[in-house]
Amino acid sequence: MRFQALLLTAALGLGGCFGAPAPQPEGVVDLQQTMKAMGREWKAISQSDDPATIANHLAQIHQLSSDASRAMVRKGEQADYEDSMAKFQVALETVQGSIAAGEFDDLEPLLADLDALRKEYHKRFKP
Ligand code: HEM
Repeated sequence: MRFQALLLTAALGLGGCFGAPAPQPEGVVDLQQTMKAMGREWKAISQSDDPATIANHLAQIHQLSSDASRAMVRKGEQADYEDSMAKFQVALETVQGSIAAGEFDDLEPLLADLDALRKEYHKRFKP
């Protein structure tokens, strides 16, 4: 199990370098396109039970959510939106941490937590 965790950590490291999409340049975030890309990554996670594959898609979502956090939302809601996106990223990092530590048994509930945040924030911010 330890060796498996090591291998996975190495794969995660590479995924972090080569798997994540390039960040969008400052000031030109198309939130709808970024969210569509997040939707594709999320779907891929829901179709996989391989921790390394899930970890790669989580790394993509992390980068995409960083891009998304620079997008403008409705007037007066920007600070709340950025705060929510930061909370979402903390929850995401919890799942990434579990995979890196080789703790695969708890993935389902952690992914369910992420999904709950997605739903909550969509209710709050989606036009
Ligand atoms: C795994 C997490 C998430 C996924 C898979 C996801 C996916 C999506 C999808 C598929 C859309 C619809 C895009 C379209 O119009 O076709 C969308 C829209 C949106 N999402 Fe997310 N989302 C996630 C997390 C979040 C979070 C954490 C926030 C805010 C803190 C957020 C805020 C929004 C907003 C504001 C829109 C409307 C964008 C627009 O049309 O201008 N999403 N999301």
